[in-house]
Amino acid sequence: MRYLVANLKMNKSFQETKEYLMFLATRYNDNKKVGLTLSLPYTYILMAKYLLEDKPIKIGGQNICEEEEGKCTGEISGNMLRSCGAQSVIIGHSERRKKFKEDNKIINLKIKSALKNRLSIILCIGESLSENKACKTMEILKEQIETAFKGLYENELENIMIAYEPIWAIGTGVIPTTKDISKVAKEIRKIIADDFSVSASEKMRILYGGSVNLKNITSLKNIKSIDGFLIGGACLDGGVLLQIASSL
Ligand code: PGA
Repeated sequence: MRYLVANLKMNKSFQETKEYLMFLATRYNDNKKVGLTLSLPYTYILMAKYLLEDKPIKIGGQNICEEEEGKCTGEISGNMLRSCGAQSVIIGHSERRKKFKEDNKIINLKIKSALKNRLSIILCIGESLSENKACKTMEILKEQIETAFKGLYENELENIMIAYEPIWAIGTGVIPTTKDISKVAKEIRKIIADDFSVSASEKMRILYGGSVNLKNITSLKNIKSIDGFLIGGACLDGGVLLQIASSL
């Protein structure tokens, strides 16, 4: 099974999203080979729940508040996401880490809140260009993973996918070599094996994200050590998303 998470970020009007969802609802075939999740802006999750009812497409959010309820103007809780139809949530996207100053400790709390509300998690991790150049990639990823997973039980990892998204590859058209992605995925599994168990590391689903498109998917899909992809820009066109899904 391969996994595709489409991160729509802050794009499309209500009407555009409706058309996008209706297009996918009628055209996406359940080939049982690909698990597709649409990570939508909050305001469209409920609409997606109705338009995608009985369809083999999962719905997710793009962020979650670490608190359960109350004095958090502008935030969204796990219970709100779940009760509107979300089954998963992206946590730790680099745009949120940077623009909204979300650090590894907050991300750990967000993960716990998502687990409490029975939401599966796509945890994004990734290094900056300068960290990459300074050969600090694995040091950064280790810190991101270990702080994010602090206090978690091994069985809870089954609800989590890790998306390796080098910051310098997001929206830039530049991607790491397939060899480098493969190497990082193996190192991520080693961290999980050391901190939890070999079985947990083998079960962990690892995605690659950053400038995935119709062209580079032909080589990216051959990387054996990853389980799928997190797609931003390319998923905004429903037709392209379907072509990527059917190419896997
Ligand atoms: P991109 O975005 O595919 O446009 O690079 C990926 C992401 O930010 O999740």
